[in-house]
Amino acid sequence: MGRHAISEPSDWVARFADLIPSAGTVLDLACGAGRHSRLFLARGSKVVALDIDTSEVADLAANPMAEVIEADLEDGRPFPLQNRQFGGIVVSRYLYRPLFPALIGALAPGGILIYETFAKGNELFGRPRNPDHLLNPGELLDAVRGHLRVLAYEDLTLDAPRPAAVQRLCARCETAVP
Ligand SMILES: C[S@@+](CC[C@H](N)C(=O)[O-])C[C@H]1O[C@@H](n2cnc3c(N)ncnc32)[C@H](O)[C@@H]1O
Repeated sequence: MGRHAISEPSDWVARFADLIPSAGTVLDLACGAGRHSRLFLARGSKVVALDIDTSEVADLAANPMAEVIEADLEDGRPFPLQNRQFGGIVVSRYLYRPLFPALIGALAPGGILIYETFAKGNELFGRPRNPDHLLNPGELLDAVRGHLRVLAYEDLTLDAPRPAAVQRLCARCETAVP
């Protein structure tokens, strides 16, 4: 097992995977070991797996349905996929607030954003504790308001795979976002 001890897809991502148009490419942002890239590849989707360290998805480079991109999303340069559009974008256990507009803009009309990450209160359970990596109350909703239609949202404490405070959202792009 590599740096990312959790290998099963998140329940939240799996729950809404069907909503992603099957013909659309799925972006797994900050993919880690690619548990969600692998979920969508198994479902027959094309996948872009992006991380600052792609060593744990190196095996996917041989898969013609997968594109592995190694990029630092926080180096001040423009979002590396700003000219691409995706049928689905999955972000799990990663937060870099300046990316919200670029992610919304990278959704194709009808595309689905599935986002799940740690929220304030997680300090009680463990890492991350840095406020830069913890959502404020309602922050995911605020990030997509006026841009995407929210299909589902939760703000809760999970017991498994380990106790964690999270927010999670599934939202659809119902119009082309300029
Ligand atoms: C907690 S892991 C989550 C991995 C995966 N999304 C999952 O849920 O299993 C956070 C990931 O964010 C990636 N990451 C952290 N900083 C990054 C950056 N500046 N640019 C791109 N990826 C980054 C890490 O390399 C790591 O793979």
